[in-house]
Amino acid sequence: LFAAVELAPRDPILGLTEQYNADTRSKKVNLGVGIYYDNEGKIPLLKAVRKAELARVEAAATRGYLPIEGIPGYNQAVQKLLLGDDSALIREGRVLTAQTLGGTGALKIGADFLKRLAPQAKVAISDPSWENHRALFEYAGYEVISYPYYDAATNGLNFDGMIGALESYPAGTVVVLHACCHNPTGVDLSPGQWQRVVEVVKARDLVPFLDIAYQGFGDGIEADAAAVRLFAASGLMVLISSSFSKSFSLYGERVGALTMIAADKDESLRVMSQLKRVIRTNYSNPPTHGGSVVAQILNTPALRAEWEEELAGMRERIRAMRAALVAKLKERGVRRNFDFVLKQRGMFSYSGLTAQQVDRLREEHGIYAVSTGRICVAALNDGNIDAVADGIAAVLS
Ligand code: LMR
Repeated sequence: LFAAVELAPRDPILGLTEQYNADTRSKKVNLGVGIYYDNEGKIPLLKAVRKAELARVEAAATRGYLPIEGIPGYNQAVQKLLLGDDSALIREGRVLTAQTLGGTGALKIGADFLKRLAPQAKVAISDPSWENHRALFEYAGYEVISYPYYDAATNGLNFDGMIGALESYPAGTVVVLHACCHNPTGVDLSPGQWQRVVEVVKARDLVPFLDIAYQGFGDGIEADAAAVRLFAASGLMVLISSSFSKSFSLYGERVGALTMIAADKDESLRVMSQLKRVIRTNYSNPPTHGGSVVAQILNTPALRAEWEEELAGMRERIRAMRAALVAKLKERGVRRNFDFVLKQRGMFSYSGLTAQQVDRLREEHGIYAVSTGRICVAALNDGNIDAVADGIAAVLS
């Protein structure tokens, strides 16, 4: 049976890290994967996380199975972070959340859940989108289509194209939307544009699936949840996949959640009962450690304040790196105007570099970026930014 198995291509993002790890050059920079590195080039262990972990070790917590849907205190904290502390939807029992294996796990559980409800529905993702969106939904059995999003001419949003596509979809089409810090472009919608999208999604009876993996990396925890809250208030059934990989720097712990908003409490209970079957048949129940740490931090005011400060620090350092990159490219006489990098939000910049330029960056300069030209600005630091600016200037000249 295995004799016929073909060699699959490397993953476009995580495969780059494999290639980077195998690169023996001492001066190399990984701007491929979406990971925040500190100014020393290390993945930070947040102080709030360290404290919660120590408390957990001290408490000598045993390791029984979690409920299928995860830790109750975690799920409640996720809901408040997404929808606000005093959300009427939460009070009315219309919101249900399951702890998942990262944001990817949430997307897959949501995809499997929807597939059973509406097997013929197509899934629409932005053009471009996170590479794994298409692959994940196709593997879950969907036909995946894409709606216009990025406008290369302006390095901004093709909003009319996006709306036009949404207006053309049949009822029931699942529309995946990046709620903030669009991956890979860094180009987000304005509040007014989000309002329009909500109207169209509602009028066309589409199914919104919001992906929010970077809450807190755009303009702040509350501001970045604005689109989620608009959809939540619209009366639509909404799915939300969220992740704490980046905001708590807990990548390998796989801490995410799938949240859904139902019409009423009864519907929410029925939906959760089905969701639990999906989870049980995939991985049974989620792991304990990361979820406990996040719950502890979000539910303890002092730890939460410390975390919010650390998250703000990450957000500000990324902004500073955006400004520094633009300035350094100018200093090197690069003629192309890179000011758009300053407007982009989150960890990424769609740099406009071509696949050939990205190849040259890697081969000649040891700088790794995604072949689409996406670079992770959160991986820049004072020690590597000159080399990166030199490399980009060289491949553009
Ligand atoms: C990314 O886009 O680089 C991150 O979300 C990591 C991943 O899983 O691809």
